[in-house]
Amino acid sequence: MKLRTLGHSGLQVSEIGLGCWQLGDDFGPISQDTANEILAAAQQQQVNFLDTADVYGAGLSENRIGQWLANNQHNSTQTIVATKVGRDAKLFPNQYTKQTMQNNIEGSLQRLGVDAIDLIQLHCVPREVLFAGEVFNWLEDFQQQGLIRFYGASVEMLDEAEFCLNYSKVTSLQMLLNIFRQDALDKVLPLATSKNVGIIARLPLASGLLSGKMSADRQFSAQDHRNYNKDGAHFHVGETFNGIAFEQGLALVEQLQQLLIEHSELDFPTQLNLQQIAIRWLLDLPAVSSVIAGVSKSQQLINNAAVSQLDKLPTEITQLLADFYQQKVRQHIRGGI
Ligand SMILES: NC(=O)c1ccc[n+]([C@@H]2O[C@H](COP(=O)([O-])OP(=O)(O)OC[C@H]3O[C@@H](n4cnc5c(N)ncnc54)[C@H](OP(=O)(O)O)[C@@H]3O)[C@@H](O)[C@H]2O)c1
Repeated sequence: MKLRTLGHSGLQVSEIGLGCWQLGDDFGPISQDTANEILAAAQQQQVNFLDTADVYGAGLSENRIGQWLANNQHNSTQTIVATKVGRDAKLFPNQYTKQTMQNNIEGSLQRLGVDAIDLIQLHCVPREVLFAGEVFNWLEDFQQQGLIRFYGASVEMLDEAEFCLNYSKVTSLQMLLNIFRQDALDKVLPLATSKNVGIIARLPLASGLLSGKMSADRQFSAQDHRNYNKDGAHFHVGETFNGIAFEQGLALVEQLQQLLIEHSELDFPTQLNLQQIAIRWLLDLPAVSSVIAGVSKSQQLINNAAVSQLDKLPTEITQLLADFYQQKVRQHIRGGI
């Protein structure tokens, strides 16, 4: 597993990270054993960067990580845990105070069983809260108090990402970024690189669509956001299937797979599958520090981690993906970019 430096923090994070939303049962319930298997696979694959949030499963994801680390963390393999604050009902959508944010961070410290949070990220706070800027002063104070080591932001929109880059102490920016959402390549990534802010790429597989393994008969359980938020009824539509209606997404994936078959000479003899292409495409972006693919099974993590060992995509495939995005995909993204 290759490591990359996370912005100006100096933290060495695995280029494939683990998205831990699934550990909160928000993609349908997973057993405690499965959660432990996923975390064990992460350690075995040298995936040392975990992304969670206080609200994932109302603390369940952080609890599972904290318990696993307490039982399994050895000094030789230091895990870096990024969590988020800002979407708990005590704050969101309009009750943001420094004290409540501090209380919530202290809750995360307890669940994770650590003295300081490695990286805290503002969790898609409302635009007006973000743009007022006061939250960055609070984060600065929390850092000085020693509650957090570094801070960053997770955002929905590109203009929010650009805004965060005005703050020189922001270490990382977490964004929606995948082969079906490429606008940040022109607008944000060069700026992030120039400011030495690490990009954390979320939804690398567009909630699983880009695994190439989904079909129209796939049922999502009532607890799975791909069921209850498929049209954005509960939170930002972009967070579920990248903002693309499920059936539309399936059709686009089929078209893309057909296109790749027609151009299979481009990556001969490797013949990568779609999941590998989607993750490799992100790793080929130097601005990206870590690709936090979420998984609901340990084998998925093993397959995702393996992409770190693959060669860069041929430029012709990257161009094919850029054209496909502009011509076929972009118009279907709901919720703005
Ligand atoms: N606002 C925010 O800050 C925010 C929002 C969303 C996500 N995130 C973070 O970003 C992480 C990643 O995003 P995400 O989990 O929503 O989307 P994702 O990584 O694009 O997709 C995850 C899903 O893809 C499928 N998958 C993963 N690896 C696979 C493989 N090798 N083969 C086949 N299928 C595979 C699994 O689907 P099945 O479960 O169906 O098997 C998995 O649940 C989250 O876990 C979370 O930590 C943050």
